[in-house]
Amino acid sequence: MVELDAIADLRRWLRGQRTARRRVSLVPTMGFLHEGHLRLVDEARRRADTVVMSIFVNPLQFGGTEDFSRYPRDLDRDRALAATRGVDLLFVPSTEIMYPPGAEIRVVPGPTADRWEGAARPGHFTGVLTVVAKLFHLVEPEVACFGRKDVQQAVLINQMVRDLDWPVEVAVIPTVREPDGLALSSRNAYLDPEERRQAAALSGALRAAHEAWRAGERSASALEATMRAGLKVFPAVRVEYIAITEPRALAPVATVTADTIVALAARIGKARLIDNIVLGDGLDP
Ligand code: PAJ
Repeated sequence: MVELDAIADLRRWLRGQRTARRRVSLVPTMGFLHEGHLRLVDEARRRADTVVMSIFVNPLQFGGTEDFSRYPRDLDRDRALAATRGVDLLFVPSTEIMYPPGAEIRVVPGPTADRWEGAARPGHFTGVLTVVAKLFHLVEPEVACFGRKDVQQAVLINQMVRDLDWPVEVAVIPTVREPDGLALSSRNAYLDPEERRQAAALSGALRAAHEAWRAGERSASALEATMRAGLKVFPAVRVEYIAITEPRALAPVATVTADTIVALAARIGKARLIDNIVLGDGLDP
């Protein structure tokens, strides 16, 4: 595995791949890798000849009061995991390389970014799209892989690619979970053992929604009530929102169908966690 942090070196290395007519895929991450990230690598490998992973904790997507400075980092461990899983090039730029002094242009999403995560984290998706746009320009991948766990992020990246006519295929990969259902997340590292135990309530609520759907329930408000009742039993879990939406722009729906997205965000201790399902699929698509 090659590791680079300079843009000129990255471009030179990628020119070699192009000359060899290799298809390039990109897996953007903020590091502290887990099996969810590595599943994206597997998919990137299936769809291309050369897998590029970026690790960059992007300050632009963190609000002033958020966890940028304490976001978990372990580059040595990440390097070993990426190499073992078959990443060909690890791109690990510094903040100064990604945002040199004076860099002030942003990629600004539309109203789809104002709801749910965007409402809770103003400016977050401008930060995400700006860094992903830069990575797309730097790597020029044929394919880029993202996780469904961050469903609004995946929707907005698809919109960006479509609206800006980007010749990149966006692959969205199902959420990888712990045995008790908790979605893998770098932020799970913030949980103490009791919080970790209660964190399974998030996927538990999604499972309850899926079961109610399978039993014939079609009312979004009834599903939400079922989820809230289940979550109330877990005092450490402070629900921020429950979203029951259509899949394209994540607008709320009153009546649910198999492709409805059920998403939620909650605070548990120092962590803010999100999860979602496609209603007809449940936890294990
Ligand atoms: P990060 O949180 O590191 O996630 C990197 C990628 O891994 C994202 O596409 C995310 O959806 C995916 N992912 C995370 N947890 C997953 C899980 N349990 N199962 C499957 N995929 C999972 O998302 C970001 O970084 C950043 O916003 C980024 C896109 C890199 C831009 O800075």
